[in-house]
Amino acid sequence: MNPTPKSARISGFHKKTPAERLAAVAEFSELTADEVAHLGNMGNLDPHLADHLIENVIATMNVPVGVATNLRIDGEDMLVPMATEESSVVAAVCNAARQCYEAGGFTTSMSEAMMIAQVQLVGVSDPVHARLRILEKRDEIKALCDACDPVLVKLGGGLRDVDVRLVDSAGGRMVVTHLMVDTRDAMGANAVNSMAEKLAPQIEAWTGGRVYLRILSNLADRRLARARAVWRCADIGGEAVRDGIISAYQFAAADPYRAATHNKGVMNGISAVVLATGNDTRAVEAGAHAYAARHGRYGSLTDWEVTPSGDLAGSIEIPMAVGLVGGATKLHPTARACLRILGVTTAERLARVIAAVGLAQNFSALKALATTGIQKGHMSLHAQNIAMMAGARGEEVARVAAILVAQGTVRVDVAEAELAKLRG
Ligand code: MEV
Repeated sequence: MNPTPKSARISGFHKKTPAERLAAVAEFSELTADEVAHLGNMGNLDPHLADHLIENVIATMNVPVGVATNLRIDGEDMLVPMATEESSVVAAVCNAARQCYEAGGFTTSMSEAMMIAQVQLVGVSDPVHARLRILEKRDEIKALCDACDPVLVKLGGGLRDVDVRLVDSAGGRMVVTHLMVDTRDAMGANAVNSMAEKLAPQIEAWTGGRVYLRILSNLADRRLARARAVWRCADIGGEAVRDGIISAYQFAAADPYRAATHNKGVMNGISAVVLATGNDTRAVEAGAHAYAARHGRYGSLTDWEVTPSGDLAGSIEIPMAVGLVGGATKLHPTARACLRILGVTTAERLARVIAAVGLAQNFSALKALATTGIQKGHMSLHAQNIAMMAGARGEEVARVAAILVAQGTVRVDVAEAELAKLRG
């Protein structure tokens, strides 16, 4: 007899408590008692809060938070918390920052800080006229948008500018209104989305067209964080290392296949700080990659050059839509504590620090790749993970990992055998 097929139609699942949901999942997926006990331990995140941050919560996912040291940013020494599951990422930032610390560390800046919301208008026979009709209403648009968020206006934010673009699509010419909004210390998604929704009926009335989408753009190219630093040739191992880094950058700038990996490395650092501070990693990642393709071909998010004195100059410019208020940033206690470690008091400062971390991350990756290769450093940390997977605990972890690295075989079966030997 075939067993009754399982049904994923669990009525009222969302109304259950996390523990009740976990019990239902355990039954469906035949989880062991150990697995259920593990998932039921929500660690340092209040189950009530977790249950209100997202839907259908059964557990939390702990990711280690490491702290990057050695960072001097705009003359200020900072400790930067990074949440990531990937080994070597935190160490890479520490190493890069150490190697440019004496030369002054990182210098950062920010463009104007505006989020963009888009209102998509279709079905107008005279899009060029429609565009101007919308632009003529700038003052009305400002009044309407600012009225959506009086608190933001009181804090000095609000609508700054309006642009209207004509976008040729498979469905014809679209009239796309951009609202440029200073969202102050908020990431600003809610603020700009509300404005776009409020404005939509007016746009229809002014143009006779039909509005569909009203949503922010993650290509936050009016909110660019910038960072630069100089690594003295003598501090990084000489001209050959410098030239290897430059060549690695040139490779990324010329080849999208390499650029994707190059930028993934940059985002290793950036996403880790974005996550640690409770910000939206996907928003920042989407913006970064779209920005990397802004010239029509996907390229490098960083630039590397040789200074007149022969040193290595690195820089980054990247959309950075992060905030200090709203969403998980304010609610998640770990995010709040991470912001305290950072000591930043404005979203702008946070954005600039994150850009510096992305540049540092890229420096270390390129240096490793252009010299010893990435595996050497990776392997010793990876070996520790493998040792733990084999059951090593406490001091055993480092001892087994060292043996694996020395043998050049970082495998679980080898780790198990070495652990057994160690335990006699
Ligand atoms: C690995 O997570 C990141 C790197 O691949 C980045 C790079 O290749 O530049 C090392």
